[in-house]
Amino acid sequence: MTATQDPQNQTPAQPQLGGHTLPSYLDPNNIGPYEIYLEQVERVTPYLGKLAYWVETLKRPKRILVVDVPIHLDDGTVAHFEGYRVQHNTSRGPAKGGVRFHQDVTLSEVMALSAWMTIKNAAVNLPYGGGKGGIRIDPRKYSTGELERLTRRYTTEIGLIIGPEKDIPAPDVNTNPQTMAWMMDTYSMNVGRTATGVVTGKPVSLGGSLGRGDATGRGVFVTGAEALSKLGMPLGGARIAVQGFGNVGNAAARIFHDHGAKIVAIQDVTGTVHSEAGINPHTAAAHLARTGKITGLEGTEELTTGEFWGVDCDVLIPAALEKQITAENAGRIRAKLIVEGANGPTTPAADDLLRERGVTVVPDVLANAGGVTVSYFEWVQDFSSFFWTEDEINARLDRIMREAFLGLWDVKEQHGVTLRTAAYIVACTRVLEARALRGLYP
Ligand SMILES: NC(=O)c1ccc[n+]([C@@H]2O[C@H](COP(=O)([O-])OP(=O)(O)OC[C@H]3O[C@@H](n4cnc5c(N)ncnc54)[C@H](O)[C@@H]3O)[C@@H](O)[C@H]2O)c1
Repeated sequence: MTATQDPQNQTPAQPQLGGHTLPSYLDPNNIGPYEIYLEQVERVTPYLGKLAYWVETLKRPKRILVVDVPIHLDDGTVAHFEGYRVQHNTSRGPAKGGVRFHQDVTLSEVMALSAWMTIKNAAVNLPYGGGKGGIRIDPRKYSTGELERLTRRYTTEIGLIIGPEKDIPAPDVNTNPQTMAWMMDTYSMNVGRTATGVVTGKPVSLGGSLGRGDATGRGVFVTGAEALSKLGMPLGGARIAVQGFGNVGNAAARIFHDHGAKIVAIQDVTGTVHSEAGINPHTAAAHLARTGKITGLEGTEELTTGEFWGVDCDVLIPAALEKQITAENAGRIRAKLIVEGANGPTTPAADDLLRERGVTVVPDVLANAGGVTVSYFEWVQDFSSFFWTEDEINARLDRIMREAFLGLWDVKEQHGVTLRTAAYIVACTRVLEARALRGLYP
């Protein structure tokens, strides 16, 4: 709490980022990605009314676990890795969020990602709080056996705080269904029973859900199509540029294409391809699988990385990494609509520029929530041991994404704010309402 307040009066607190409100484990001179999240909370605070009394809750993760993960390497030596699990908030339900293996993972990054999961789960009204985990490792440098030992030791270390009713991890960058199978097995061995619901994103043969693979891209499509409709732009023939052609970008491009939109440019880590006539993403995926590169695709011309941002298109889908749309390139973007498949692809400065230019942004916490929504379905199916058809899953996913979009659009219109601020207003209100109703223990 930042000041002395009378809880009966519920006077809104004045949020401060400096001084004692910043935890000692963050460096005030280099807060890292968590600073972006704190700024987003600052922006939404004036819209929270009396609930702003509880806003400090949003700025501090509920629980942080830092673990040492030692493993035997194949060469007989022992290596130690830094692992994290952060439970940002559990006011509305168990923590939920992925686990990332990356050499640059930091506590601040995991804190930010866990906080964005709190916002995302609340924005689409899933009964979860937010969590995230990570291990500081470059997985490309290690064998499958080493990664299995790493995953199992990490799971045991964070086993203190995870569980089907407490905190449910899922895949994120450089983790996949196999990683989840190892996590599920390790947790199950430790508790003495098969606990499929401890993680989501598992293989379908092990309690995973149909439809999970395309779920995030599908959510990008559903929210993107709704946004086009609101903007009075036809879906048929809409010109789409996609950055990232992995799980999210590939599925989004494919589903837009299959609904009559035209993919005019694709960029991935290997290069950028462009075609006025349109790129068939099915063909592009086959080409990528065959050659390992997106470039060289028949019927396309190659662009430089920078030229991608100036491509003539109606919709831009960043689906690769964070901080891709910056103050430097935001002015060149010709799309009227940006649908954020990736987490955090737009910097706050770029966000302001886009708003001034009248570009509509469907924010990550809404646009890419399809993945966690089907993870929620997986968790529910695991609890009941009753599995749904892919059609049922897609119909439920489409309904949740559409209703979430329309609800946030109404809030955007009501307050005259961006969709991102609307998402934060709705999400923070839901989280803080739960906090206020539950009260402060003891
Ligand atoms: N997979 C999911 O269900 C899911 C859910 C929510 C959010 N996200 C977010 O979506 C983003 C992409 O995730 P994914 O699962 O598709 O990952 P992925 O690893 O399957 O694909 C990433 C894509 O980005 C491309 N890429 C990497 N570096 C690039 C660069 N410098 N320039 C251009 N392209 C580059 C890669 O070539 C690849 O095509 C991430 O931000 C992730 O956090 C994913």
